[in-house]
Amino acid sequence: MRLWIMSDVHLELTRGWDLPSGDARPNFDVLIVAGDLIPRAERGVKWLLERVPDRPVIYVGGNHEAYGTDIQRTLEKAMAAAAGTNVHVLENKSVQIGDVTFSGCTLWTDFALNGDAHRAMVVAGDRMNDFKKIRTAAYRQRFLPHHALTRHFKSVAFLKTEMHKAREGKLVIISHHAPVPEMSDEPGGSGNDPTLDPAFRSDLRRLMVPAPDDGRGALRPADLWIFGHTHESVDTTVGATRLVSNAKGYGPWNAGETWDNANFNPNYVIEI
Ligand SMILES: [Fe+2]
Ligand SMILES: [Fe+2]
Repeated sequence: MRLWIMSDVHLELTRGWDLPSGDARPNFDVLIVAGDLIPRAERGVKWLLERVPDRPVIYVGGNHEAYGTDIQRTLEKAMAAAAGTNVHVLENKSVQIGDVTFSGCTLWTDFALNGDAHRAMVVAGDRMNDFKKIRTAAYRQRFLPHHALTRHFKSVAFLKTEMHKAREGKLVIISHHAPVPEMSDEPGGSGNDPTLDPAFRSDLRRLMVPAPDDGRGALRPADLWIFGHTHESVDTTVGATRLVSNAKGYGPWNAGETWDNANFNPNYVIEI
């Protein structure tokens, strides 16, 4: 199965670029968009349906999908817009295509990467737009780091359940936030501020190593884990899981210019 993978297209900050179409489109079986396509996930669904009406599309919301709206409400609207179509909006939900199970969630983070989750939550709450521009509880409350943390634990529980299920075919996880610490060998890594790293990444490498049956069935890690959010390009293996990211990032600001992540490949396809 050929997977056309991208994330962080950020249509709200993109001028003069569109999804490759016609002959410029790669050969693929399933398009996967790992979040930050556009604020308001229902608009993301519409954009995808207009461009890819003829193949399954898997769409996971990023943090930016919830900007200017209620995080749960926008996902519900997106799922309603996608119902009965070829677009699958996944939030703690799986879909089977052929013999491959695709499990998706935004994921958020546990804020624990630097060893002090409390401090990381205070810093993130103070400095990140995620905790200024998103509403929750039917618009009544501001979305705060503790809401993100709760959503993270719920998503990790969901992913573990999927990994414990007996399965014939492959398991592909799609999350927006990163499931591993910085993997780049380059000094400075992906260039994100390390103080904010705990709001971008969690260390979930324990879920990438097979574990024997503890009464819930053996844990069989995902064959492939696709993520976004860090605006980098990644293709590496941790334990039993191949990790892939192909994020565009912001830009181009004007037609003919390039985007944030110089390594982004709009036609990136891998075979599983
Ligand atoms: Fe992004
Ligand atoms: Fe993001």
